[in-house]
Amino acid sequence: MTPEIEVGEESAVEEDRLGELRDGTPVFVHRVRPRDRAGIEAFVARISEDSIELRFTTPARPEAVSREILGPPGAEGRLSLLMETIEERPRIVANGEYVRYPRDPGRAEVAFLVADDFQGRGASTLLLYDLARWARAAGIRWFTAVVAAENVAMRDVFLRAGFPYRVVCDGPTLLVELNIGEAVGRRADPAGTWIGGIVPFA
Ligand SMILES: CC(C)(COP(=O)(O)OP(=O)(O)OC[C@H]1O[C@@H](n2cnc3c(N)ncnc32)[C@H](O)[C@@H]1OP(=O)(O)O)[C@@H](O)C(=O)NCCC(=O)NCCS
Repeated sequence: MTPEIEVGEESAVEEDRLGELRDGTPVFVHRVRPRDRAGIEAFVARISEDSIELRFTTPARPEAVSREILGPPGAEGRLSLLMETIEERPRIVANGEYVRYPRDPGRAEVAFLVADDFQGRGASTLLLYDLARWARAAGIRWFTAVVAAENVAMRDVFLRAGFPYRVVCDGPTLLVELNIGEAVGRRADPAGTWIGGIVPFA
């Protein structure tokens, strides 16, 4: 059954958030804004070809990657979040996005891209929890992702997040489905913690 979706529900979710990576590094998470273009281009310019290929399953030119992250303004059913460092000269270090399936609005595909020097520090786990909060508020109950079987880091993020999940193995790729409608996604050993009194599943 398709869940009922109310227009404007996403506005019920807090816009910008402060968080902490596993090593205590403070970060700021917000939706992509048109003025983030230069920051996104600098983020993409530092990312290795291997990481880009894992994200897009094919080599991609930096301009195309930046365009994809920035997205068309006001695109319906899409949410792209950026994670920035908090310092004198803040730097974008991760992106996470979901795109709702037009014919199945209770589901959305998620994907992540983390700067190489920030991988393994809990960035995408935090973004996954945040995307799930926004998605739930918009009536989305399932996240799906196509993951290369060799992409142990991405697989682990999904399977250790604490959501009920299904995995379909299709040779070199895995189709992962997370039931984000179940608010049980707190890890016993969280990859990071939100600060400011807000927890991912409040
Ligand atoms: C995959 C990716 C998004 C993971 O993001 P991340 O912020 O590094 O992941 P996290 O730090 O939140 O957690 C990763 C989990 O996998 C493990 N992990 C991280 N890097 C790993 C690696 N290279 N090999 C094996 N395990 C790894 C971590 O130990 C962690 O598990 P734990 O918290 O139980 O210890 C990131 O590595 C990336 O951007 N890769 C390139 C693009 C990509 O693959 N995108 C996915 C397309 S869907």
